[in-house]
Order: sequence, then C-alpha cells, then structure tokens
Amino acid sequence: MRRILVVDDDGEFRNTLVRTLAVHYNVVGAANAAEARAALAHGVALVLLDIRLVSGQPGDREGLDLLREVRTEHPHVPVVMITAFGELDTAVEAMRLGAADYLQKGRVELRDYRRVIDGLLEQRRLARQVDQLREDLDRLGSSALVGNSRAIAEVRRQTAMVAADGRATVLLTGETGTGKELAARLIHRQGWRREGPFVAIAPSAFAPSLFESELFGHEKGAFTGADRLRAGTVEKSDGGVLFLDEIGDLDVGVQVKLLRLLESWSFTRVGGSDEVNVDIQFIVATNRDLKEQMKLGRFRQDLYFRLNGVEIHLPSLMERPEDVTLLARHFLERQRLVGNTHCNSIAAPALANLRAREWPGNVRELRNCVELGAMRADFDGRTEVKLEDLPGASRSTLAGDRAADALPDSGGDLKERLAEAELAYVEGALKRTGGRKVAAARLLGHTDRFALLRRVKSILEQYPRLVDRYPLVKEGYVGR
Ligand SMILES: Nc1ncnc2c1ncn2[C@@H]1O[C@H](COP(=O)(O)OP(=O)(O)OP(=O)(O)O)[C@@H](O)[C@H]1O
Ligand SMILES: [Mg+2]
Repeated sequence: MRRILVVDDDGEFRNTLVRTLAVHYNVVGAANAAEARAALAHGVALVLLDIRLVSGQPGDREGLDLLREVRTEHPHVPVVMITAFGELDTAVEAMRLGAADYLQKGRVELRDYRRVIDGLLEQRRLARQVDQLREDLDRLGSSALVGNSRAIAEVRRQTAMVAADGRATVLLTGETGTGKELAARLIHRQGWRREGPFVAIAPSAFAPSLFESELFGHEKGAFTGADRLRAGTVEKSDGGVLFLDEIGDLDVGVQVKLLRLLESWSFTRVGGSDEVNVDIQFIVATNRDLKEQMKLGRFRQDLYFRLNGVEIHLPSLMERPEDVTLLARHFLERQRLVGNTHCNSIAAPALANLRAREWPGNVRELRNCVELGAMRADFDGRTEVKLEDLPGASRSTLAGDRAADALPDSGGDLKERLAEAELAYVEGALKRTGGRKVAAARLLGHTDRFALLRRVKSILEQYPRLVDRYPLVKEGYVGR
C-alpha cells in the first residue's frame, strides 16, 4: 500500500492525524527531520509536513528546510504543508519552494485530506505511467530491425529461427553500428526465453584480470577482496539470453572456460570447484574477422568452430542503400513520438544526400545524423529537416555542386574532361613557377620533372587536340 508520512512535532496532533488517516492509507509519523529522513529512506509516496516544525534553534525554519530537502532528494514525492491559521505568507512561500498543496490545521476535515492526498497520488501514478509508456515505446520502436532490403529480410528470418530454437549459440558479425546488439535483443524478445533475463557484457568494460570473475563469478576468499560469494554474468542470465559482445577481445584463458561452458552448460566460479549448471542461449558478437584472429593465434580454433555454427551477418549500410530512406524516417518518427522533436518530414534533397553517403559508422551514424538534423530544424522552428540541417552535408555537397556545375549538359567523355582538368592544373603550375618545370612538377606532387613529362605526354597522345588550349604546356613539353 502507498505509504504516507506525517511530520509534525506536536505529538497530540500528529497521533490523531496518523490514526484518522490510517483507515485509508498506510501511515507513519515522524516528530522531527531526522525521523522523517529515516522514513523517506524506506520509501514514501507522499509527505504531510508541518510548516512550523521546529528544531529548537533560533530563527527556526525546519519545516521549510525539510521541504527543500525532500524536493531535491526525492523529487517524485509530493509534499503537502500543514499550516496554522493566519500563516498564509509562509504557505505561499512553501508553494514557491515546490510544495504540492497546503491544508490548514484545525480547519479541515478528513474529507479534505482525502481529496488532496488522493488527487496527488493519482497524479503521481499517471506521471509514472507516462514515463513507463515512453520507455516501452522507445524499447518497442528500437527493437525492430528496420529495412526492406533482401539482406535485412534474411537477417530477420535468421533471428526468428534461432529465437524459436532458443538453444543455438549465435555468432553475430558485421561492421560497427550495423545492429548486432539490436539483433541480439530481438532474438531475446522473439524467443521463448523472453520472460528470462537479457544480460549484455563486453570484455572491454573490464580490466582483463577482472573479466573472468565478472563472467563466471567468484567464491568467497577466491582472491583478496572477495569477501563473499558473488554470482557472475553467466549465472545471472540463467533461463535467459547472455550477449557477449566483442568476443574477439577475449583473453585466451577465458576462451578455454567459455568453450567448456558451451559444451557442457556448466562452469565453476573463480576459486571454486563446484559445478554450476545453467540453461541459457548464448549470443556473441564481433566486428573483427575471427578467422584472422585465429590465424594470429589470438583466438582458439576449437572455440571458433564451436561458434561459427549459426552465423548471422549484419550487412553494412552501404550494401543496402535502399534502406536509408526508411531508416532515416524511422529515426525521425521515433524522436517525434518520444517528444524530442516537432519535425515530421525530411526534404527530398536531404534524403538524396543521405542515400549517397558511405556511412562508415553505419546505422548508428545515420541515426545521429538524422537526430542532429531534426534538432537544427527545430531550432529554426521548422517541421521539415532540410539538407543544410544535416551535419556534414554542406561540405560534401558544395564540392559536388561545383563539379555538377562544371559538367556539360550533354554529359560528354568524362575521361577527356579529367584529362583536360589535369592539363589545366599543369598550365597553372607552370604559370605560377614562371615556366620552371622542376618546380611545377614538385608543386603538383610529382617526384621529378620526368614523371610530369611522362604524364603530360601520355595525356596528349590520347587527346592531341587539347594542347592548343594550354600554351605553357605546349611550349614546355611539346616537341622536346
Ligand atoms: N536495422 C535497424 N533498424 C533500426 N535501428 C537500427 C538498425 N540497425 C541498427 N540500428 C540502431 O543503430 C544503433 C547501433 O546499433 P547496434 O548498437 O546494435 O550496433 P552494433 O552492431 O552492436 O555496433 P558496434 O559493433 O559498434 O557495437 C542503435 O541505436 C540501433 O538501435
Ligand atoms: Mg554493439
């Protein structure tokens, strides 16, 4: 039941109030700030606080001080001030400090208390529900693998299969940001282990010497500081899914123990000899080439072969540009649904720009790019994300625009255009160096003047008619 705390140093009034309210609520009383703190530490849904609570010090404002403290330490707990007749000023000040309401001593009846208390408790419940729904929405939206490409459809088919199986060990491969962790969570949510835990762990988050005990736990006295038995990640994920990220970074010693776990589903805690059995689905991920690691002797062959049974490869974004638009809209919509942006569309040139990029950081990078773009559009008071809102767009497109302007309308022979552009650079270099071929060659990044000579000759052999446009080139290189 929701606990209500009554803080008042007037024992008689406090006891009466506690007794009266106890018919409807779970009520505790406190005579001073210290008692109130102790009660709050155990969890309280609402506080009724005497505005004139005193500590015996001169200039006492204990009631208001405690109010301030509750507001900062327990911001979700509403505080209702109990005031005496004629204390309106203080009551107003209390409201300003964040009190949720106030009630006048002696003038109010149980009904009034109930009205105020129930109203606030209901408000709190609704606020919590909204938070919860937000989280659910976020989780829901974020655990779907978005994409229409064949490659992503194949990934979805495979995750559904291993989720239904619930026992197969899965190896997730793919570049950074391609959705390996997302796929692991999806397998957990889709499978019959969904009621069990999902535990994710990565070696890089721990000192190498500590990772083994983090994973397998330790017995009391296993090492200095191990003052009690501690369950590891493997034990904590019993019945559910264990996601071991960055498996390529795993210590060779831990690899041995892991292989045993995968073969017998049992292990021993560090410093112990008792076998512990677990029933888990094991998912590992890497963005390194495990085969390569194996050749270098950093990854055990037997473990590799145990893991590569079911491999699900997450394609890079560049392999599936057709998904970019869908993903971009998906991330924008999610931001909008959780109330982070007012934007609801992305302009066509912006989408074209997103599709044309290489995305070394894959979906993660795309997501950041879209979210930042939405932020900038919001800042400008627009609901459409435009090209200039996207980080990194201006630079790349400016260069592209210049080239686009330089292209002839009918297309033409691109090679000849490039050859001509190169000759134009040589002409420019000769002009700047006063016709000195050694200096011009160096300016253009050639190692010596013969390298430049060979380059110019080969261009002119292919496109002899270009030479008349570049007098310095003609003078310097033709006929010599
Ligand atoms: N197909 C997808 N649909 C929707 N969101 C995706 C998709 N793929 C990736 N994401 C999102 O991109 C971000 C990066 O994904 P995730 O963390 O799963 O990548 P990862 O492969 O584990 O990367 P790393 O190797 O760097 O750990 C996350 O916010 C994830 O929700
Ligand atoms: Mg990851």
